Amino acid sequence: MSIEKKTGPATMAEGMTTAVLCINGEDHALVFPTHHTLLEVLREECGLTGTKHGCELGECGACAVLVDGEPVLSCLQLAAEVQGKTIDTVEGLQRDNELHPLQAAFADLGAAQCGYCTPGILMVADALLKRVPAPTGEQVTEALSGNLCRCTGYNRIVQAVLWAAAMERGDDWRPDETLFEGTALPGADG
Ligand code: FES
Ligand code: FES
Repeated sequence: MSIEKKTGPATMAEGMTTAVLCINGEDHALVFPTHHTLLEVLREECGLTGTKHGCELGECGACAVLVDGEPVLSCLQLAAEVQGKTIDTVEGLQRDNELHPLQAAFADLGAAQCGYCTPGILMVADALLKRVPAPTGEQVTEALSGNLCRCTGYNRIVQAVLWAAAMERGDDWRPDETLFEGTALPGADG
């Protein structure tokens, strides 16, 4: 009797897959239903709930992570297919005890409001800044065109990415000061 040699990236049996996934620089030995997406495995098997569960149709960008440094919609990606690749999620963005410049810029500029879209946007922006350290506003808008946000109106998001890029380059450019001012509550001026 010959034993079939396994050539796939992961071991699959009875609808389950056994795989080692490298997430945020750490190997995770996992067993999960073969049909589960990377989004499901990150949230349910790894407890990494920073990656958000939005439309599950590839339309909102809330679930974006990086696979081998490139943005991927984890709701459309089978987890069984990413063994051997590097997976980065928002939980890995922080640098030691410091916020990543993108996280700091989003917080200081109010570019994260309800925050549901934020993890996906941060990951797509991180990939952009690694590729294009000094992007234009148009390049940021283009890169984030697959990420929907229903709270911010996008301007603060784009400005926060430009600010983080400047911080990374050691440039002292800042967004317009008016963006740091809060909006008065109705009636608060009287
Ligand atoms: S949850 Fe993946 S694109 Fe919306
Ligand atoms: S901050 Fe609420 S959806 Fe973007």
